[in-house]
Amino acid sequence: MANKNIALITGVTGQDGSYLSEFLLSKGYEVHGIIRRSSVDYRERIAHLEGTPNFHLHYADMGDSMSLVKVVGKVQPTEIYNLAAQSHVQVSFDSPEFTADVDATGVLRILEAVRTNHLEKTCRIYQASTSELYGKVEEVPQNENTPFHPYSPYAVAKLYGFWIIKEYREAYNMFCCSGILFNHESERRGETFVTRKITLAAARIAQGKQDCLYLGNLDSLRDWGYAKDYVECMWLILQHDKPEDFVIATGVQHTVREFATLAFHHAGIELRWEGEGINEKGIDVKTGRTVVAVSEDFYRPTDVVNLWGDPTKAKKELGWNPQTTTFEQLVALMVEHDMKKVAADEAASRVHTNLAEYLEKGLVK
Ligand code: NAP
Ligand code: GDD
Repeated sequence: MANKNIALITGVTGQDGSYLSEFLLSKGYEVHGIIRRSSVDYRERIAHLEGTPNFHLHYADMGDSMSLVKVVGKVQPTEIYNLAAQSHVQVSFDSPEFTADVDATGVLRILEAVRTNHLEKTCRIYQASTSELYGKVEEVPQNENTPFHPYSPYAVAKLYGFWIIKEYREAYNMFCCSGILFNHESERRGETFVTRKITLAAARIAQGKQDCLYLGNLDSLRDWGYAKDYVECMWLILQHDKPEDFVIATGVQHTVREFATLAFHHAGIELRWEGEGINEKGIDVKTGRTVVAVSEDFYRPTDVVNLWGDPTKAKKELGWNPQTTTFEQLVALMVEHDMKKVAADEAASRVHTNLAEYLEKGLVK
């Protein structure tokens, strides 16, 4: 069994965890994921994998050292992908202590779980680091040598994760690395991140299910890539001959406004922008109706507004192609997915309504 590849993924139910599971299973890995107990069984992103022979789930929590020590000891992983996090920047202002516990101390708990089980020579560790470390950016574009200036409780917690990974690499000679990933999106993206919020709203507005989309800072610039392309890089980082940190980005930047314009275009609505700041509006050229407006509710106490990654090192040393999926393709595939989802949800709710009617009439017992 010495050469068997066994991966343990924390955050397996998340956007990246689900794509990474598929990727590693396709490479013949035995894949283990940790899940938390929840009062509702919400594992939509990995439901299609459950029952697959090489795919196993275990209860544990990033806030519970003992559970992590036990699962690492039981699984004996050759690779750990630490993706679990309270990953929403805005939420980290509301729950800063929880965010620090999971996103900072959680990383330490994983490292110590590996040491406690004496796996430090055989288990490689990937840490899901982030472009949010650059925060109030000190240069553009950002690369592996750009100074960090975290600008939210989330980013400060992730900075601890970055440094503790580096510390264990140097102190204990462990193969542990951080991928400094810029924003990556997909049809599985959480619905409160700006891209998915936009693609879902564009689909709903196009199908007459919503009147207006409210957003925050439309000028914010992001380097958006496709999550499915990025999980390959996580794996490549752990296959490299030496443990190093890498920036993963497309090298192309767009504003939130540009994302919205293109998303609405794919949903069949051409937007015209009028006004400035809080008074800016996106107007449907055909109907003259306001379909996008700005709300202060979505402004952050401190906002990161200029992320732009330089993926040169990953390109050269890992042979990774940052433009596998372009920005235009990403927006198109997300809108296409959400147009179908909104239509299907509508059909499902019609069935549901009929069922309710039948129940009321006593036709279904
Ligand atoms: P996501 O969809 O929000 O998934 C987060 C995962 O972490 C979920 O599986 C969640 O489980 C799990 N989790 C949260 N708290 C936990 C706890 N206390 N114990 C165990 N599991 C817990 O995030 P993502 O977009 O896939 O991102 C994956 C990682 O990359 C995160 O660490 C994120 O900070 C980082 N990152 C993301 C991006 C991006 O653009 N997506 C960019 C840079 C870095 P539940 O399902 O139970 O909530
Ligand atoms: N969520 C959200 N909702 N963001 C909005 C909105 C809105 O209505 N309107 C404007 N924005 C702006 C935010 O202020 C931010 O500048 C930008 O859109 C992107 O916000 P998010 O999509 O929430 O992502 P993020 O960049 O804050 O964080 C994501 O990417 C990081 C990597 O840079 C998350 O995935 C983090 O986990 C990840 O580390």
